[in-house]
This record gives sequence, C-alpha cells and structure tokens, in this order.
Amino acid sequence: MTKVNNKVVAVTGAASGIGRALAVRLAAKGASLALSDINEAGLRETAELLRDAKGKVTTHVVDVRSRDAVYAYATEAEYQHGCVDVIINNAGLSVWSTIEEISYEDFELVLNVNLWGVIYGTKAFLPLLRRRPEGHIVNISSINAMVPFAKNGPYNISKYAVLGLCETLVQELQGEPIHVTCVHPGGIQTNIAHAAKGVTEAEAAFFGRIARTSADKAAKTIISGIEGNKERVYVGLDAKAMATAKRLMPALTVKVFGKLSRASIGQ
Ligand SMILES: NC(=O)c1ccc[n+]([C@@H]2O[C@H](COP(=O)([O-])OP(=O)(O)OC[C@H]3O[C@@H](n4cnc5c(N)ncnc54)[C@H](O)[C@@H]3O)[C@@H](O)[C@H]2O)c1
Repeated sequence: MTKVNNKVVAVTGAASGIGRALAVRLAAKGASLALSDINEAGLRETAELLRDAKGKVTTHVVDVRSRDAVYAYATEAEYQHGCVDVIINNAGLSVWSTIEEISYEDFELVLNVNLWGVIYGTKAFLPLLRRRPEGHIVNISSINAMVPFAKNGPYNISKYAVLGLCETLVQELQGEPIHVTCVHPGGIQTNIAHAAKGVTEAEAAFFGRIARTSADKAAKTIISGIEGNKERVYVGLDAKAMATAKRLMPALTVKVFGKLSRASIGQ
C-alpha cells in the first residue's frame, strides 16, 4: 500500500491501545475507518477522538471470536464505505498461567481471539481487498512469536501461529496486488497486561516498567511498515534486539528469556 491517505481501513480492537492509536494516526492521514471492538464504550471513546476526522468513521461492535460477526463486519464496512482497502487484525488478549495450570477454557479463549479472530478477519476481508486495485492485510503478532515468555503459553502459541499464517499468505498471494504485513511489537504501553486474566499487580507493574514504546509510536511504525509494503515489522528496540538474539542463538535466547520471565513472576 503506497499511501494510506484516502484509503478505507478496517481495524479490530480499536477501543484501546495500539488499535486506538492506529485509528488516530490513520484518521490524521485522511484515511476512512471502519473500527471494531467487543468493548462498545471504548469504541465510542475512540470515535469521539476522531470527531474532526476528514474521512468517514464508522464503528462496529464485533467479537472476533465469532466467525459470523466478523463476516457481518466485513459486509457492513464495505456497504458503509463502498470498499475496504486494508484490514488490520489487531484485537488481542492474554491469560497469564502456566501450560500445566491453565484451564482449557482460558487456553481456548486466547486462541479464539488471537488466532481464530485473525484467521476470520483475513478470510472475511480478502474478497473485499480483491475488488480493489491494491489491498493490504496487516496481522498483529508479537515478539513472542520469536521469543516466548513463561506463563504466557497460549499467547506465545497464538502469535507464532499468526506469523505462520502471514508467511503462508505471502507465498499464496505472491505476484498479486495484495500485500501482507506481520507486525511484531515488543513491550508497548497499553492496557494489555492489566486486562489479562490471572495477572497479579506485581506482574502488571513489571510489564509497565519494561514496556518502553508508546502506543502512538507503535502506530507510527506500523503505518510506515504498511506504506513500505514490509512483510515484517518489528516495533521497538526491544523487539529488534530480541529477534536478532533469537536468530543468532536460538536455544540460548529461549533459555535466557525463560529465566528472566520466571524471575519477573517470582518463580
Ligand atoms: N502491548 C504490548 O506490549 C503488545 C506487544 C506485542 C503485541 N501486542 C498485540 O497488539 C494487539 C493490541 O493490543 P494492545 O496492546 O493495544 O492491548 P489493549 O488491551 O490495549 O487492546 C486490545 C483490544 O482488543 C480488544 N479485544 C479483546 N478481545 C476481543 C474480542 N473477542 N473481540 C474484539 N475485540 C477484542 C479489547 O477490547 C481491546 O480494545 C494485540 O494483538 C496484542 O497481542 C501488544
């Protein structure tokens, strides 16, 4: 996507954090937005921030765990805007627990939002992108797709899988005017740790200390990656350093970050 200006962009998880920051920056560039989230009140707050936007802004209450709801969102976005050029599958959450202790319900919750939500968003919007001269699929993974963290197993697994989804899409859409960007943020200052089920105050505070990048800076980096047609975007110096460490010393990096993440949770 050479420029997002005047394009129609659909963003999931737009009620908070990176999704909201993306909405603000995209609107400032003149994009029209079809914003969705499960959190209706938060979505309204995001829309309020965009009151003076040049482009059209629509909001859609969508639970990305529901295939039907995501398909209805795609239909409604195209109906209200006339087309959709970019889908950003951003909605995500975590449940903090070990693989041994986590319930199957919580395991499924994380995979249903972070993986199935992204698969539904990709498949529901792809036919719309095909109707455009150029389209773009942006899936928000994480640095956890390279370096896992203890007590965050389902999240790590979902983010590795999103990378696999993106790489397969790159292969399958090669030579077509539909670009794919997989985004790997490091620690970003958002509500994600506080919102996570099972997280203790100490763990959320630790996340707050290590998350060095603002949501606004993350949004800026992601948009420049989209406009540069980057297949992979690392957000933050921490993400870049961790990805390099994993590439150079894969086994050692997993062990070292295992120790660090276990120490951070007092194990
Ligand atoms: N914050 C970080 O450090 C970080 C790092 C790497 C990746 N990410 C990823 O970035 C994305 C955005 O997260 P964030 O940090 O802005 O967190 P956030 O908690 O601030 O925002 C996540 C949004 O997703 C929405 N959401 C959750 N479940 C949903 C569902 N079932 N249907 C629709 N919407 C739902 C929430 O309501 C919320 O508005 C996520 O995919 C996350 O995994 C975040």
